[in-house]
Amino acid sequence: MSQAIKKAVFPVAGLGTRFLPATKANPKEMLPIVDKPLIQYAAEEAVHAGIKDLIFVTSSSKRAIEDHFDKNYELEAELEKKGKHELLQIVQEVVPSDVTCVYVRQPEALGLGHAVLCAQPVVGDEPFAVILADDLINCGGNSVLGQMISVFSDRATSILGVEEVPPEDTDKYGIVDPEEINGRITLVRNIVEKPAPADARSNLAVVGRYVLTPAIFEHLIAIPRGAGGEIQLTDAIARLLQDEKVLAYRFEGKRYDCGNKLGYLQATVEYALEHPDLRDAFLEYLETEFGSNGKNPLRIIND
Ligand code: UTP
Repeated sequence: MSQAIKKAVFPVAGLGTRFLPATKANPKEMLPIVDKPLIQYAAEEAVHAGIKDLIFVTSSSKRAIEDHFDKNYELEAELEKKGKHELLQIVQEVVPSDVTCVYVRQPEALGLGHAVLCAQPVVGDEPFAVILADDLINCGGNSVLGQMISVFSDRATSILGVEEVPPEDTDKYGIVDPEEINGRITLVRNIVEKPAPADARSNLAVVGRYVLTPAIFEHLIAIPRGAGGEIQLTDAIARLLQDEKVLAYRFEGKRYDCGNKLGYLQATVEYALEHPDLRDAFLEYLETEFGSNGKNPLRIIND
């Protein structure tokens, strides 16, 4: 039987330049989708999948993330005093009491691979998960990480969360060269960072979910800086698969790339339309403003 996955790493030390100036003083991962920050959706996904240790790789400008998962005595006392029990519960349940949050620093933004390597002293010699909070994935009941952990419990080997992207977009992702396709699971022959569409071996793109064996660390230590002068997780995975099997898993669920503005806005609209308190009023607003009889002047101009 494979070792249980109990630790998840959340690399949150990137600069978030695509959202400047919003991310000048606030971490990108604290941007809210409706009423919850991206990092909380990611933490909830991990907890839902059975993770007990949440390891955040942060930097000096990301203190808001530590505060978000910490107890806020003043706020709780104030809500208690005012009898706002529902809000108090929301604030107290940001992380369950049996889950531990650990913070390690990435002193310089040297890339995703380097951020994962910074977590090694806390992860130790066991398989672990990596979640990128800006890839928000909506899949109803079963979390993507939960799906991947259940594949891991059968196969005991590293697993990359992948989705099919339009062939012209391969140069935006790490792309898998698949060896053997078996339903949702594919054996990976190779992985290439941002290949031009003409060179891509598939349109299976690696998105922000990984289950990795601890052997990844020795490759992260050994690899030179890659694309953009950064230590790339993709390059370490390309080396790992020369020694061990690596699988790509086509997850069930809809991904929103909240690291860019369009994906972030799409997630905001769709999550608002699923939010029980907002759904009806928001839909009515959209229909009035943008529906077929919409009065929005921009729509009339575009028509
Ligand atoms: P991105 O590629 O989205 O980079 O990182 P970024 O810096 O966050 O954003 P842009 O491109 O400047 O707008 C993917 C994930 O890896 C983390 C980021 O925080 C994000 O969750 N990361 C990236 C690190 O933790 N450290 C790094 O050195 C780079």
